[in-house]
Amino acid sequence: MLIEALKYLTTPCPAPYRRIGYLKELIATEARFKRNRATWQPHLDRTRAVIIKAAEQVTRKDTVIVLGAGMLADIPLDRLAHAFGRVRLVDVCFLNETRRAATFYSNVELEHHDVTGIVAPLLSREVPQPRLPSGLSLGDADLVISANVLAQLPLIPLDYLRRQRPSIDDEELEAFAQAIIRSHLGLLETCAGTVCLVTEVERQIRDGERLVESVDPLRGVLPDREGDEWVWDIAPRPELLPDADIRNRVRGMVW
Ligand SMILES: C[S@@+](CC[C@H](N)C(=O)[O-])C[C@H]1O[C@@H](n2cnc3c(N)ncnc32)[C@H](O)[C@@H]1O
Repeated sequence: MLIEALKYLTTPCPAPYRRIGYLKELIATEARFKRNRATWQPHLDRTRAVIIKAAEQVTRKDTVIVLGAGMLADIPLDRLAHAFGRVRLVDVCFLNETRRAATFYSNVELEHHDVTGIVAPLLSREVPQPRLPSGLSLGDADLVISANVLAQLPLIPLDYLRRQRPSIDDEELEAFAQAIIRSHLGLLETCAGTVCLVTEVERQIRDGERLVESVDPLRGVLPDREGDEWVWDIAPRPELLPDADIRNRVRGMVW
């Protein structure tokens, strides 16, 4: 707890993203990853394998963009930095460990962007509509990677809206969350180069081998693409629930 608080104070993060809650969540994600490293590892390996396969399919290798690069747990940075002329890592904020990892490569750049374009309207109390983030151009990318980010995109904006505008009802919040997911898929569909999308497609609450409940993390907005699938034991008990395990079904797509 103390380490996390210290990290919060010492990690640079643009003020609007810190205020909305992204830095806190990134630090909490890293802590969850450290606690559950063994059960996460097969999933991280599968994600890296899909990304490497996608990179191998790309013929012109000038630029790769990683959206929601995070702590790079599932990103084969070394392979990408050797294969591509330029690696652009995009996230709302980066941990100091990620900054250090990037300094080993002269062709890796860190860019702070909200890929949903939702933060600015949220803070200015406009009607929140996802939109193409200004300043983020994907046009020159030979490969765009979105790895384990899609289902996360609405969560922090939803929490923020629930806290700041309690008058918004559940139906409106759900439509807002769906719009964010749809908008990210739309953004990926506009890319001229190759796209690699890895996302959870089902969240299972399990009692060991018994499925107790199945939740759709993409809120009915399924990417209309085939791909390899695997499971990610993201929260074995008691990580999130005292008497149940959480397992994600994940799909890796390349087009
Ligand atoms: C679960 S992590 C994804 C895993 C990441 N690829 C890794 O290896 O650490 C989700 C990442 O998406 C980022 N993220 C969430 N919302 C975002 C947004 N609106 N714009 C950019 N990045 C965002 C988070 O900061 C976090 O780093």
